[in-house]
Parts: sequence; structure tokens; C-alpha cells
Amino acid sequence: MKYIIGNWKSNKDSREVTIWFETFAKLYKKNKTGKLNNLKVIICPSFVQLVQAKQLVISHNLPIKLGAQDVSPFANGPYTGEVSATQLKELVEYVVIGHSERRNNFQENGGLLVQKAAMAIKERLKPIFCIQDPKTTIPPGVSIAAYEPVWAIGTGTAETPENAAKIARQVKQNKLANLVVYGGSVTPENVCGFLAGSSIDGILAGGVSLDPVKFWQIIVNAASL
Ligand code: PGA
Repeated sequence: MKYIIGNWKSNKDSREVTIWFETFAKLYKKNKTGKLNNLKVIICPSFVQLVQAKQLVISHNLPIKLGAQDVSPFANGPYTGEVSATQLKELVEYVVIGHSERRNNFQENGGLLVQKAAMAIKERLKPIFCIQDPKTTIPPGVSIAAYEPVWAIGTGTAETPENAAKIARQVKQNKLANLVVYGGSVTPENVCGFLAGSSIDGILAGGVSLDPVKFWQIIVNAASL
């Protein structure tokens, strides 16, 4: 099983979300081969788009799971602006935690991220915990890590599959996570390089996932392996 994860970041209004799912659904219905059974496809829209995305997944009958891009470190309560794991669990199965954009722009750090991961796990959400290098701490209980070197994010220069696989193996050998996906300038052209071996369990795509045609192409290429 390989994970194909799309992180939309802070993008798309509701009209664009509808168009994305309509376009994806057309491609899926025209081309589905059954091979998608070996893939777990996860889309992570903004919080405000999650209800709509869930409805669209259901109405188009798509094999897509949803994830959030962040979660509050607190339970429900007086935490203005936060979205708790309890609130999220109605809508998503996964949550991205510790993306470098949150670490760098919002000063999120180790202790806070441990709290976020603990809240997610308590509510049975599966954290996709981002690590920037092999030294990044992974909180206890996290099963999916995403290796995303900062220099590869949104730059068009991806990590080499060999290095990514080496880091994935290190994380798994040290029992820090069971699964490791790679993120950073993944494209339909380079995706197979990352997924070909057994070390890397999937990819996390940012920019490319905004385009349903390119995201579908990633899926088709991954399914061809
Ligand atoms: P990118 O982003 O695919 O646009 O490089 C990856 C990510 O930040 O998860």
C-alpha cells in the first residue's frame, strides 16, 4: 500500500474545490482500473473546505480520504481560532502536523507538536508528522512520518529517491514511525522514482495536488508500479 497525499495548503475557494472534485471524478470514472486498491489517496484541504470536500467525496463516490493540515494542541474549550481533534474527527481520518511552513511561519516547535500529536492520537486521528531531516524529533505514537527537506518544498528541486529512501529506512529502523512518505517537489514525472522500492511508503504533494489532472497523473503513474 502506498500513500498519495495532496496538501492544498492555504489555497482554493469553494467554487475551485467543487471544480477540483468534479474534474477528478470524471478522470477516475473514465480510467479506473482497480489498481487504485493498492493506493491510499488523501487530500488535505483548508479547515473551511473540509465539510464541502467530505460532501463531494461522498456524492462523487470517490476513493479519497480526507486530512486536515493542522490541529489544536488543546481539547474543545476557550481557544479562539483553534480547531480541535474532537471537531476534526467527524470530517477527517488524518492530520498533517509539524509542516515546515508552520514551524517557520508560526514558530511551532517540539513541545507544541508533541501536544498536537497526542491530541490527534487521543481522538484516533492519524498524524502525518513532517520531519525536515532525520534529526527532527518524532512524537511517540506517530505511525506516519513525512520526510520533507525544506529546500525541496515548492522549489522544483526534489530530493533524490536514494537519499529519501535512506532516510525512510533510518526512521523505520529506529522505530520512530512505521511508514515514511516523501514530500518536496513531487511531480507526475518523478513520483515513480520515490515509490519504486519498498523503503518509501508514499508521497506528499503540495503544488501539484492543486491541479486535479496532474494529481490524477501522479496516481496513474503510482498505480502502474
Ligand atoms: P510541494 O510541497 O509539493 O509544492 O513542494 C510539498 C509540501 O509542502 O508538502
